[in-house]
Parts: sequence; C-alpha cells; structure tokens
Amino acid sequence: MQVDVLLGLQWGDEGKGKIVDVLCPEYDLIARFQGGPNAGHTLEFDNKKFVLNTIPSGIFNEGIMNLIGNGVVIDPIILKRELDNLKTAGFDPVGKGNLVLARKAHLILPTHQLLDAASESKMGAGKIGSTLKGIGPTYMDKTGRNGLRVGDTTLPDFKERYEKLKEKHLSILSHYGEIPDFSEKEQAFLAAIDYIKTIPHVDSEHLVNQYLKSGKSVLAEGAQGTLLDVDFGSYPFVTSSNTTTAGACTGLGVAPNKIGKVYGIFKAYATRVGGGPFPTELHDEVGEELRKLGHEFGATTGRARRTGWIDIPALKYAIMLNGVTELIMMKADVLDTFDKIYACTHYKHDGQVIDYMPYEIITNEAEPVLEEIQGWNQDLTGITSESEIPEALKNYISYLEKALEVPITFLSVGPDRKQTLSLSK
Ligand code: GDP
Ligand code: IMO
Ligand code: MG
Repeated sequence: MQVDVLLGLQWGDEGKGKIVDVLCPEYDLIARFQGGPNAGHTLEFDNKKFVLNTIPSGIFNEGIMNLIGNGVVIDPIILKRELDNLKTAGFDPVGKGNLVLARKAHLILPTHQLLDAASESKMGAGKIGSTLKGIGPTYMDKTGRNGLRVGDTTLPDFKERYEKLKEKHLSILSHYGEIPDFSEKEQAFLAAIDYIKTIPHVDSEHLVNQYLKSGKSVLAEGAQGTLLDVDFGSYPFVTSSNTTTAGACTGLGVAPNKIGKVYGIFKAYATRVGGGPFPTELHDEVGEELRKLGHEFGATTGRARRTGWIDIPALKYAIMLNGVTELIMMKADVLDTFDKIYACTHYKHDGQVIDYMPYEIITNEAEPVLEEIQGWNQDLTGITSESEIPEALKNYISYLEKALEVPITFLSVGPDRKQTLSLSK
C-alpha cells in the first residue's frame, strides 16, 4: 500500500478538512504531517459544524485511526481544548482510542507565542500576518535543535528542560521590551502537558509503515497551502513548514516511493489571509462580494480573507511541486450569481508576459492577464449528481483541466459533507 496525500494548492483554507472527512471512510489512518494550530479545518455534517486545529479530520468517523505526525507542532492547551470540545459534542477520540501523537512532534510553549507576537510587532507594516500561534518560533527551535518534543513530556527532567528553554526565550524577549505576564498560560500549559501524556505516544514512522505493510490505507492531511510553503511560497510571507508532498514524507517518516495519489484541492476562485503577494487580488466590490458569499473569514483567527480570481500559473506551479494526480474544486457555489468569472492565464512582469511566479514577486508584483469565462447563474447547492451540473460550469471544469493537465475528480458545492460530487473521468 501507499500513502495518499491531500493538500491545498493555494494559500490555505481551500476546504481540506471537509474533503478529508468525505474521503476518510476509504482509509484506515488519517495523518496530519505539518503545521499546527495555525490551521483551521472546518467540517459540517448533520447540521453541526466543527473547526479542527491540530486533530486530523478523520476523527468523526468510526474505526479510523488519527495520527498527529512528527512534522506537526502541537500547542497542548489548544489540543486539550479541541478534545474537550469534541467530548462535549459527544465525540471522545481519546476514550475511544482513535487518536495517537508522534513522540517526535515538537511542542509550542507559551513563550513561543510571545516570541511570535514580538517578532511580528517589530516588523510593523511589513509583518507576515502570522496567526500568532507560535508556529515560526517553534520550528526555529526545532531546526536550531533546542526544541521540546511530545516524547520529552514523560522524561523525569521534563520540567527542567522546559525551564531551560523558557529562560532562553525570556532572554530573547527582553530585547524586544517589556515581557507580558504569562503565568496563567503557563499553568494551563503544564496542566495540558499532563493531559496529553494520557494520549498514546507513537513513533509515527513505524506506525505508518506498519499500516502500509499490513495492507492498510493511509491518507496524509496537509495544512496551509502550497503557496505558503517555506521553500516555495512567497518567502518571507509563508508559514514555517513544507506544506507540499515532500512535507508528508518528512512529517510522517514515509519514503517518497511510498506516496500514491496526490489530491490537490483548490477553490474555484482564490483567497489569502495575512500579508504577501496575491496577483489576482480584487480590491473592489467584486472582491467584497466574493468574501461575503464565500464567508471568507478565517476559521482560526476570524480575520477577513483577501479574495481574487483563480490563478492558473500559481496552480500549475503547485501541481508541479506536489506531483498532483487528481484535482478537487471547492466552493463552486460561491460563484453562482456571477454572470462572468475570470481566470488569470499569465502575468505581465517587467514588460514581459510570463506564465510562472517570478522570484521578484515580493518586491515587484506581477500583473495578472485575465480571461473572461461565462458564469452559470444557477444555484448549485442542491445538486446531487453530475448530470445536474450546468453546461457553463462543465465548460469551466474542462477549461481548467486542459490548462492544468490534471483531471478534476470531485466538485464541492456547499460546506456540508453531502454537498460533494464525484466526477466520472
Ligand atoms: P481548510 O483549512 O482547507 O480545511 O478550509 P477552512 O475550513 O479554513 O475554510 C473552508 C471554508 O469553506 C469553511 O468554512 C468550509 O465550511 C467552507 N466550505 C468548504 N467547501 C465549501 C463549498 O464547496 N462551498 C461553500 N460555500 N463553502 C465551503
Ligand atoms: P489552513 O490549514 C490560511 C498564514 C497566515 C500568515 C502565514 C504565516 O487552515 O489552510 P503562521 O501562523 O503559520 O506563522 O502564519 O500563513 N496561514 C494560513 N492561511 N490557512 C491556514 O491554514 C494558515 N496557516 C497559516 O495567515 O499569512
Ligand atoms: Mg483553514
């Protein structure tokens, strides 16, 4: 068996949580491989809505194991809160034994969050627009070889290790100015550490490979999106992990030749939250309309998402980086009332027409070249079969498939689990 991967091709919030929930009955294990509680993955079913930050989106299905992999950074307070909320709603993954944590996953400390906030405030107008969850500083400690890991929580000297890292952070923070009081947060952190000791700790690399060896299927769930990848996104306006398929290999301990299908998920338009280049961004009332119709406000921070038209060069880049084998188009229903929609086919940059994202995009924005596409002017939210898809939407799908050279195999027409159509190819 191989590990299938599902990940975002844009700037995050493509609808990954919803689709993992839809696909997971086909899988035995769902594994998050990078990111942390900067993610907000929304799932809707039976008139209920859940937002998951750290927990994989397979958690609502019986009999599926969920793994928080070694590439993830965990805030124990947020993880505990997520699990408490699930329990209140009648789901108890810990009690049922269908959640495990990688020993090698790194921990987000309260002082990592203070460092994130201090760094952002120092940057002023050029700030990244971080979710302020401490993601960057935690990955810095990981690569700087100072971090604390889930497995460390059971060591007898965990508290001393924690104090040592905290002191290091306090010393850095003192250069930024006054350090806010975080004693309550620290208490909550230490209590949550005790709690996460009750969740089974595993070596994710062995677990995942044992699943494959015994013929069981695994789906790796990405967080953020390809254009936020630390290597290939619009650096420095990126997150601090590899959000691409390669991140699934390092974030779970899976060899590249064990990767199977790669589902690339994208919205029928585009959004971005936080700073950084966004060539097709709409600053007018059309952008406002997309935000309103698409409820484009962050699932984690509540921030308004920036909106724009679909960007084909950016999608092609993401497909290349990830080795995407199937595409999933989300939120087509948000465009239901538009007479005309637009797709960016190329950019104008430095007097030239190019079809890739240039390195200088940070300092010298690329101007999108847009192609007009006929809208479908029809409510899609109630359609349940492929035969009901309006002709104009079929044309949009074919147009994208031709441009992207990968088939679109699922179409999402609303936030509910049921509002998902499988497309025959
Ligand atoms: P994720 O981070 O990729 O899991 O995506 P988010 O949950 O942050 O954002 C996606 C938002 O769109 C959520 O509010 C979903 O409920 C919603 N959503 C997902 N698919 C669709 C769809 O096809 N149509 C509409 N209208 N909303 C959708
Ligand atoms: P999901 O998994 C959208 C963005 C932030 C900021 C940049 C860096 O829900 O798609 P960070 O907190 O990681 O240091 O922030 O990345 N960002 C996301 N945008 N969806 C996400 O996750 C994101 N996670 C981080 O807004 O611009
Ligand atoms: Mg999200």
